[in-house]
Amino acid sequence: MSGQIFAQVDQYISNLLAPEDKVLQDTIKSLDEEGFPQISVTPNHGKLLQVMAKLSNAKKILELGTLAGYSTIWLARALPEDGKIITLEVEERHSNLARKNIEKAGLSDKVDFRVGKAIEILPQLLEDKEGPFDLIFIDADKPPYTEYFEYALKLARPGTVIICDNVIREGKVLDENTTDEKVKGVQRFNKMLQSNQDVTATIIQTVGVKEHDGIAIAVVNR
Ligand code: SAH
Ligand code: DHB
Ligand code: MG
Repeated sequence: MSGQIFAQVDQYISNLLAPEDKVLQDTIKSLDEEGFPQISVTPNHGKLLQVMAKLSNAKKILELGTLAGYSTIWLARALPEDGKIITLEVEERHSNLARKNIEKAGLSDKVDFRVGKAIEILPQLLEDKEGPFDLIFIDADKPPYTEYFEYALKLARPGTVIICDNVIREGKVLDENTTDEKVKGVQRFNKMLQSNQDVTATIIQTVGVKEHDGIAIAVVNR
């Protein structure tokens, strides 16, 4: 019952403030057509990413986990004319699908697709002095979230916003005896966030059209 009201209110909010155009709808459809997982952010979370990008005046964005490019489209649309987003993806087939979707969105000039393991691309970005990024969105595999965040800090500046998806996992983070590697990954991440002196952070619990979860939002201290 309560799940239904959360989904209905989520739908109400997205109808009001985060309606999907055809490009976004087709991007979600493209996942089914390819048999890829439906784990993109929701429309309201896409809009939240846009709000955060505007709030941080983002010109340079880094994303970990491209999938079909759904969150990439929301973020790229918040960029100024000369803005850029680099998006990392380990699955070549996901990245190729995202390229098509971004092309249809008319955003190809703003998006730089990198294929490979995030943990291998991140040190390259550092070496190539691609930073500092104004906003970093971490949404790839969950076990190395802590390491991704540490790289994110090295690629950041004071004021950079770092957003991490899926840090509550239907409340499974409460289970200290969990054997789920994804849950263990975000538990370790959340604990690190607690003691991290470089950022001011919180976690927002999320309910709606997708499963109960949470998003961590951190800003690098000045
Ligand atoms: N941000 C996307 C959803 C990403 S789903 C959106 O909201 O639209 C997570 C993605 O991370 C998947 O496409 C998966 O293939 C990718 N991924 C998993 N492990 C990875 C790794 N080690 N490095 C980079 N990407 C990875
Ligand atoms: C999973 C990953 C995600 O990024 C997400 O938003 C939901 C689920 C997963 O790997 O289970
Ligand atoms: Mg996610």
